[in-house]
Amino acid sequence: MWEKVQETVSYIKSKTQFTPEYGVILGSGLGGFTNDIEIAFTLPYDEIPNFPVSTVQGHKGALVFGTIGDKKVVAMQGRFHFYEGYSMEEVTFPVRVMKFLGVNKLLVSNASGGVNAAYKVGSIVIIKDHINFAPEHPLRGKNDERFGPRFVNMSEPYSRKMIAKTKEIASRLNIEIHDGVYFGLQGPTFETLAEYKMVKILGADCVGMSTVPEVIVARHMDVETFGISVITDMGNEESIDTISHDEVLEAAKMAGPQVRALIKNLIIEY
Ligand code: HPA
Repeated sequence: MWEKVQETVSYIKSKTQFTPEYGVILGSGLGGFTNDIEIAFTLPYDEIPNFPVSTVQGHKGALVFGTIGDKKVVAMQGRFHFYEGYSMEEVTFPVRVMKFLGVNKLLVSNASGGVNAAYKVGSIVIIKDHINFAPEHPLRGKNDERFGPRFVNMSEPYSRKMIAKTKEIASRLNIEIHDGVYFGLQGPTFETLAEYKMVKILGADCVGMSTVPEVIVARHMDVETFGISVITDMGNEESIDTISHDEVLEAAKMAGPQVRALIKNLIIEY
């Protein structure tokens, strides 16, 4: 893994001298965020050695390098999900690469199903913690100390300082936000009604199929992380019948401009 990461980093560095400090992973329907970047260089995934190629509708596959204000950013336009058949190593490989390109702050966005009754479709949730229910752990196997320690402290998976800054920005911009716990499952099915109830009983506010592996690997390497979720459907009796990927994409797009504004200002001000 170490050699593969270094090989990929060397390749990217041979293509661009750009050294990003902020990494951004864009979730479903949030690809428009790249319009906020003064783009310096774009690298399609299929040109990058060792990179998996993204397959899901609504996800484009490219690394986008550029600036927001005076901050240097690399954004993943399109991410890899475990349910697509990638291994956990593949799902999280780009996070390792970003770290060795210079990233020390990672911002992750996603779409999720809401189980907190205070949420509605289009609600924006700042992720304050997560529950990992994925069937495989991205750090399973021999640990390479060059990346990080065997046993990772998970007391602050999501940076308290970045959360506080985002709340300040949201209130200034008059954007309504919630904070909540994200429950990470593998998908690709949406949850049954009983499963949504379980998620709620176990202490989460929303549930989705991404983010947790990437955040774990970022924390393994001591990268400061921030997570934001758009509620694209509600996991309750009244709403469950109509949950579909189209509904998810539509709702994510609806909240897109506000999520973009939050991420953009967080990068500028943090
Ligand atoms: N469940 C899991 N993942 C999701 C959902 C959901 O309801 N909505 C968007 N991603």
